[in-house]
Amino acid sequence: MKQERQNADLNRRNSAFDNRLRPSRFEEFTGQKKIRERLSVAVRAAKERGETLDHVLFSGPPGLGKTTLSYILGEEMGVHVKTTSGPVITKPGDLAGLLTSIEPGDIVFIDEIHRLAKTVEEYLYSAMEDFVIDIMIDQGPNARSVRLDLPHFTLVGATTRIGLISAPLRGRFGIVNRLNYYDREELADIVERSAGRLGVEIERDGALEIASRARGTPRIANNLLRRVRDYAQIEADNRITAKVAVDSLALLEIDPRGLDAMDMKILDTIVSKFNGGPVGLGTIAVSVGEEPDTVEEVYEPFLIMEGYIDRTPKGRVATARCYERLGVPPPPRIAQAGEAQQTLGI
Ligand SMILES: Nc1ncnc2c1ncn2[C@@H]1O[C@H](COP(=O)(O)OP(=O)(O)OP(=O)(O)O)[C@@H](O)[C@H]1O
Ligand SMILES: [Mg+2]
Repeated sequence: MKQERQNADLNRRNSAFDNRLRPSRFEEFTGQKKIRERLSVAVRAAKERGETLDHVLFSGPPGLGKTTLSYILGEEMGVHVKTTSGPVITKPGDLAGLLTSIEPGDIVFIDEIHRLAKTVEEYLYSAMEDFVIDIMIDQGPNARSVRLDLPHFTLVGATTRIGLISAPLRGRFGIVNRLNYYDREELADIVERSAGRLGVEIERDGALEIASRARGTPRIANNLLRRVRDYAQIEADNRITAKVAVDSLALLEIDPRGLDAMDMKILDTIVSKFNGGPVGLGTIAVSVGEEPDTVEEVYEPFLIMEGYIDRTPKGRVATARCYERLGVPPPPRIAQAGEAQQTLGI
């Protein structure tokens, strides 16, 4: 119980921190260039026509900017953003209450939209398509359906688990965006901007050191910055150089490549329990105690992007880099493949 309260406190503090560093306009939002352009065109076109923005869906691993972009859309369109989340809307009446309380043009942001109850989801279809909702009142012989007209609105949905969104729901979004991991330079830009907001001086090399350990994720970059800032304040005159960043991150035992405990568990499972693979996603998931969709959509994209595992038709396999990371000698077939790649310079 105490632990739960501590976690809740930590989450609240983290989210206050998130809010403070959250960009509020497209121009402050780093990276995801294609998505930004696409959204910015859609916003300008909708405003020019005096229409509401099409429904927008964001998917991608945690901390990449889904919530941030949703609020930016509100800011750029000049409308309110009413926020809720999938598990909070438990019955159709909750949805009707929410959708009748908004003003025309507003954005309704449903976070974790993959966790919306099936019964609620079905009501959302007509709301999204025709801006009406039919709700049943009374029960038994008096039961009747009443149609409520809704103001035109934009639904913005966010999910880390796109695979769990049903086809009919997905099909009702006009603009679907998948966010990708950020590269090192982009993350360093984000770290520099955040440092400016937090009033701490940072050198580019310091920002790059933080960026390399951020797992391609702005939220992690900002969290690491916060830790490094503490160290810089106490040990280094509030100035983050490369050395200050390296020393403080080493003190915190942050993995030099940004791998977290679950990443390591997945790599170790493939190598130690399954001989380097190929091993199916479901089997990996059971071994590490996670849902297969979470492994596939939250952890695996980063591990594949960084070249630790490969996806083959027979299952996931460990690469030479994975063995190297775990400090385990690779079997000859992998070692040879790794050498061939090095010779070819790939
Ligand atoms: N492109 C970006 N530029 C600058 N800062 C960013 C960017 N993307 C995200 N951030 C920062 O990272 C934090 C986390 O982003 P956000 O809350 O939008 O992630 P999310 O995708 O909604 O994550 P979750 O799936 O956990 O809800 C934000 O507070 C913001 O400070
Ligand atoms: Mg979010």
